[in-house]
Amino acid sequence: MSKFTVLDLFSGAGGLSKGFLDAGFDVLLGVDNDNAALSTFELNHNGAKALSLDLSDKKVFKDIENIIGNRELDVIVAGPPCQGFSLSGPRNFDDERNKLYLAVIKTVKTFKPKAFIIENVPGMATLYNGEIKDEILKRFKKMGYNISCKILCAADYGVPQMRRRLIFMGVRKDIGEPHFPNPTYDEKNYITCRDAISDLPSRESELGENTDIYIDLPKTKYQIKMRGKCKVLSNHVGTNHTTLVRETIALVPEGGNYKDLPEGWGESRKFNEAWTRYDGNKPSKTIDTGHRNHFHYKYNRVPTVRENARLQSFPDDFVFLGTKTQQYRQVGNAVPPLLGFALANELIKILEKEFK
Ligand SMILES: C[S@@+](CC[C@H](N)C(=O)[O-])C[C@H]1O[C@@H](n2cnc3c(N)ncnc32)[C@H](O)[C@@H]1O
Repeated sequence: MSKFTVLDLFSGAGGLSKGFLDAGFDVLLGVDNDNAALSTFELNHNGAKALSLDLSDKKVFKDIENIIGNRELDVIVAGPPCQGFSLSGPRNFDDERNKLYLAVIKTVKTFKPKAFIIENVPGMATLYNGEIKDEILKRFKKMGYNISCKILCAADYGVPQMRRRLIFMGVRKDIGEPHFPNPTYDEKNYITCRDAISDLPSRESELGENTDIYIDLPKTKYQIKMRGKCKVLSNHVGTNHTTLVRETIALVPEGGNYKDLPEGWGESRKFNEAWTRYDGNKPSKTIDTGHRNHFHYKYNRVPTVRENARLQSFPDDFVFLGTKTQQYRQVGNAVPPLLGFALANELIKILEKEFK
């Protein structure tokens, strides 16, 4: 078992580092400025510390150093929010507005880890004709890293979700070259929404409790894997929709959206993702941070936090803290742990110098 150490920057609830934890890494610390997300992180990361910091503040490095102490930091993983990239473009990459990204660059510069992973939305690859991405590659190369980036789809790694993310992988030049994990699933065997959540109580006639019990047995391998040894069903609370919402979504077939509504229905929400009902026979669309636009493939309600967590590949014993809105945000923001796990396993091979 690897005991390489990990620092998770912009950790949120820690989906990415949960994958590293499950692959055998020693996750030391998560840093974020969302206290509810940090409580979730601390509860679910096997003794890792959680530090509440505004990472746009240049003086925070001492606080991180104090916690890491004299332990060597092997890997940094980071999911900086990408809103706020400067409109003045990459020539002004050092612009204040890019400070969250600069915080990642500065942390890598300070700790010189053996490797790092940065996660972003796919749109980042083509922002300013790719100049932002190229600038990031250039800066890390200059700092002594071999670096490469690729858009990965979570469904290709066993996650029941078509979530695409741009991943940067950097490996210190004395250690080796970056290498992305090969997909292990494709359209023929993708895990579907039904595979992922069909065993969970319907929550149509009663909303359920935050800590509850399973009623049905697991029906699929994926459900067995997500339940593990978990005996308590948490974060599976239904939403009390208005009659109008229930009647409107009832008109949308599996896999449909607002375009399937009759003239005059659902007028208040008419944009791309509005009134989307998942298709039970496919992976879900990208789980977002809200809980208004996506609906269960079968029931006339939005998915519960636990259903979204299943679609993000969080195991059932990973418990989300905070208000329901905060829980939905933590789940929607996360890198699916199974994608993190695939990246972590690939990094182990690189760190153990299996690729020469
Ligand atoms: C995309 S999410 C990261 C998700 C995480 N990697 C995961 O897998 O669960 C971005 C995170 O950045 C945090 N964040 C935004 N601005 C911040 C700041 N100024 N300082 C620290 N954290 C910040 C947000 O609270 C959010 O949790």
